[in-house]
Amino acid sequence: MSLWTKKPLGILMQEAGEEGEHTLKRSLSALNLTLLGIGAIIGAGIFVLTGQAAAQYAGPAIVLSFVIAGFGCLFAGLCYAEFASMIPIAGSAYTYGYATLGELLAWIIGWDLILEYLFAASTVSVGWSGYFVELMKEIGFAIPEKFAGAPLKWVEAHRAFEATASVVNLPAMVLIALLTGLLVVGIRESARFNNIAVFIKLAIVLLVIGFGFMYVNTANWHPFIPENTGTFGHYGWTGVVRGSAVVFFAYIGFDAVSTAAQEAKNPQRDLPIGILASLAICTVLYILMALVMTGLVPFMKLDVPHPVFVAIDAAGPALKWLTYFINIGAIAGLSSVVLVMLMGQPRIFFAMARDGLLPPVFGKVHPKFQTPWLATIITGGFAMIFGGLFPIDILGELVSIGTLLAFVIVCAGVLVLRYRSPELHRPFKTPMVPLVPILGIGVCGFMMSFLPSTTWLRLIIWMAIGLAIYFFYGRHHSRLGRAEA
Ligand code: ALA
Repeated sequence: MSLWTKKPLGILMQEAGEEGEHTLKRSLSALNLTLLGIGAIIGAGIFVLTGQAAAQYAGPAIVLSFVIAGFGCLFAGLCYAEFASMIPIAGSAYTYGYATLGELLAWIIGWDLILEYLFAASTVSVGWSGYFVELMKEIGFAIPEKFAGAPLKWVEAHRAFEATASVVNLPAMVLIALLTGLLVVGIRESARFNNIAVFIKLAIVLLVIGFGFMYVNTANWHPFIPENTGTFGHYGWTGVVRGSAVVFFAYIGFDAVSTAAQEAKNPQRDLPIGILASLAICTVLYILMALVMTGLVPFMKLDVPHPVFVAIDAAGPALKWLTYFINIGAIAGLSSVVLVMLMGQPRIFFAMARDGLLPPVFGKVHPKFQTPWLATIITGGFAMIFGGLFPIDILGELVSIGTLLAFVIVCAGVLVLRYRSPELHRPFKTPMVPLVPILGIGVCGFMMSFLPSTTWLRLIIWMAIGLAIYFFYGRHHSRLGRAEA
């Protein structure tokens, strides 16, 4: 059978019914979907990576990095919205890919999305750990460094991993274990937890922006774009673009709105609203937050695991009260991101197993809890290992490059499908085709090209492993392939 075989839309709709997914309650409004998006978006990107990217790559111009990354996401978001309205089925870019681009590309997207969801869960758990350790210290329970960090760090100069003073990042692993347990027993409990967490983190972000602006020292914004050190990506314009590829991580998650397609009251209208509104709101918040953080302290001081805390702490005693809320807000807010990512990954595995591309164990549903429990536990297990052993920058860059690749493929998919199947009903149409998808491919590809070569190498190795699995396993077990044979 051909590697380009596409899954008919009719079958997709039918399968949604088969799984009993049609019984999911259609209760989410455009507002709920927007909140879901914000829940998945605001996390370690703004609370952790922004500080590190400002310190290492862009300085105060990290604000411009956010603008560049925001444009890339806007174009990709417009393309996602077209697919989400056209194929309003719980799933993701993997499902869109299978329906439109064929099995091989669908596999590539699915395998690549593991970098987005599973690895993002690990990344954010490491960010969470940074704030948790700080909170514990503040209230007098210092967690020994040995158990609160990655045992390995990447040293670019030697191009090798080197040992640190730590053995394992235990808080990160415990968080993932707890959330995995929550996801195995129920979705409803998880959704309630998410709503509260979104409310808390939005409140914290608004407080930081509002109060932080009053204490900004504008001298910290000069020079706005620090002079390049002579090394590619270290300040100057190359640093701004590399910074955008790193803070791109902060925007990831708006596409998670599409996974709730079957719980939406009016998916064809509301999914595009949810995707684009959550993206727009977060873009504005991020730009303001980046201005405040780099305005409160010299940017070099932000290279810590809890930079928002450090920035507000620098404002002096007047804002001391806010630092406590920041820790609590980050802890609640980051855990909700980990939760959404840990929830999304098994759904993708589930869809891939249903198509025969992954072994059936990934598709097992728990008889009592009705959750894809084995896929959830496998996801949690791997996420724990990565979160416990690797530093946040390595994980975050891998997530960024993987997600950027997924966005490039989605933009290309919209373009291809417009020419190949112009007759399909598209309740939401990406505006200005072919310009917007081409810009999406261009901006996302441009950001990818600024990520370090070692990150590229890791992506290539990851994709090679994926292709090997497809050719040795998926290709021979594909349900569609067997149906055709
Ligand atoms: N955008 C999410 C975060 O920053 C993944 O944590």
